[in-house]
Amino acid sequence: MAKALVVYFTVTGHTKKAAEDIGKGMENKGIEVSIKSVVDFSQKDVEPVEIVVFGSPTHLSRPATKIKEAMEKLDERSLKGKWVSAFTCMAIRGGDKVLKSLEEMLKEKGAENFIPGVVIHAGALLSLVKGRDASPEDVEKCEKLGESLASKC
Ligand SMILES: Cc1cc2nc3c(=O)[nH]c(=O)nc-3n(C[C@H](O)[C@H](O)[C@H](O)COP(=O)(O)O)c2cc1C
Repeated sequence: MAKALVVYFTVTGHTKKAAEDIGKGMENKGIEVSIKSVVDFSQKDVEPVEIVVFGSPTHLSRPATKIKEAMEKLDERSLKGKWVSAFTCMAIRGGDKVLKSLEEMLKEKGAENFIPGVVIHAGALLSLVKGRDASPEDVEKCEKLGESLASKC
């Protein structure tokens, strides 16, 4: 059975929920999924999996510092040969920029098989309170991303 890892950082829970939705899409297609907070993540977690996905909230139109730091610590070429994608949760704007930045960082770490990621609308701008949940359409977008990643294995 192919294995997948979804790594996320979250402040108010939306990015964790999106990670779970992507994971569900992959599980529906028979992939063994591990979902990990970036706080518990280490380089060795990447080794046994065929699919790796990184998710971050949009913070001032940039990825969260903790996700950037975790990616920077990945060995060069550590994602070579794996199917890789990314996602971000944003309240209003800046998500496209974050997605592009995550994609560039992942490619620098050897991701050649990159599947375009998703931007999810959820939360409230600059807010530490949870704000609104993702719409059912965005939940479906996450599940579909999971399914298309799974279909590669
Ligand atoms: C410090 C900070 C900066 C943020 N910057 C933006 C931003 O630039 N654009 C935006 O649309 N939302 C921004 N937000 C809102 C979050 O991106 C949004 O609420 C997201 O869903 C939070 O994800 P989380 O629940 O996983 O932490 C910001 C939130 C915080 C706390």
